[in-house]
Amino acid sequence: MKIILAGGSGFIGRRLIQKLATARHVVVLLTRNPAAVHLEAWPSVKLTQWDAKSSGLWAKELDGADAVINLAGETLAKRWSSRQKERIVNSRIDATRALVGAVRQAQHKPSVFINGSAVGFYGDVPNDPVPETHPRGVGFLSDVCERWESEARKAEECGVRVVMLRTGPVLGSDGGALQKMALPYKLFVGAPLGSGRQWFPWIHRDDVVRVIQLALEKSDLAGPINLVAPDSVTMKQFCDQLGRTLHRPSWPPVPAFVIRLALGEMAGMLLTGQRVVPSKLIEHGYSFRHPKLDDALRNIFS
Ligand SMILES: NC(=O)c1ccc[n+]([C@@H]2O[C@H](COP(=O)([O-])OP(=O)(O)OC[C@H]3O[C@@H](n4cnc5c(N)ncnc54)[C@H](OP(=O)(O)O)[C@@H]3O)[C@@H](O)[C@H]2O)c1
Repeated sequence: MKIILAGGSGFIGRRLIQKLATARHVVVLLTRNPAAVHLEAWPSVKLTQWDAKSSGLWAKELDGADAVINLAGETLAKRWSSRQKERIVNSRIDATRALVGAVRQAQHKPSVFINGSAVGFYGDVPNDPVPETHPRGVGFLSDVCERWESEARKAEECGVRVVMLRTGPVLGSDGGALQKMALPYKLFVGAPLGSGRQWFPWIHRDDVVRVIQLALEKSDLAGPINLVAPDSVTMKQFCDQLGRTLHRPSWPPVPAFVIRLALGEMAGMLLTGQRVVPSKLIEHGYSFRHPKLDDALRNIFS
């Protein structure tokens, strides 16, 4: 396949590129800064510059391509000032709109458009299980995800299959939430945040990449997909397991008000959660490489 990958220089994209290139796909990586991306190991990957918001020469690459994968977006892991919140929203909407615009212009359109999204779509759901049919929640992240998804869905008007990856915190060895969470454990001061009872719908990065590969191939997979492991855990259970894996203590939870003082509005993302269920993946018979948390963490830290 010829695959257009936007925002593929990051934590998920780097691993995805490795797998796609190994499977002999031709990958065109759209990046704002080609000089900062090092892909010596993958000569079949072509770097193309875009500004992630307007049309340009890059759009020609979509004509005749088989698939578009869009992972572009400003990080959530920075204090949410009003400027940063604007960047979080606009980067996702603008990049998706530009890609869908290029799909519209293409004479030979891709058959699938795979777009990022997040479990934040559902807001805070303290008790109920959350399959893909669960309604959206309230709050900043729900708004961002809904707007991001509806921008992607516009590709359906061109007859393109659209998949939206409602992803939970992705676990991997060189970045993402786990790197930040593991540091205090390594320093013997690790503890859950808030009540510890909020759900923590994790997924191993290898499964994220395998599900994206599945979505490329399976023409009956469409719409939102909960991209989380089937092993639901709370923040406390997650942190206890992290401590056991790293042979470190897990101390009593840090009170919510301390997290709010330290992180401001962004604290809400850590203090709330959802028991997200990967219903669609289970329905489609997807077999998780790392369905259990203890195995996933052992794999990452061994
Ligand atoms: N990692 C997780 O736990 C997780 C969970 C749920 C959802 N997601 C979503 O999945 C996507 C990929 O996640 P990731 O962890 O790989 O993210 P990441 O490491 O932050 O990479 C995202 C990529 O987006 C591009 N980007 C960054 N800021 C941008 C901006 N202001 N405007 C346009 N493009 C920008 C960058 O590519 P260039 O600099 O090359 O342009 C960057 O490499 C993100 O949209 C994220 O929200 C991730």
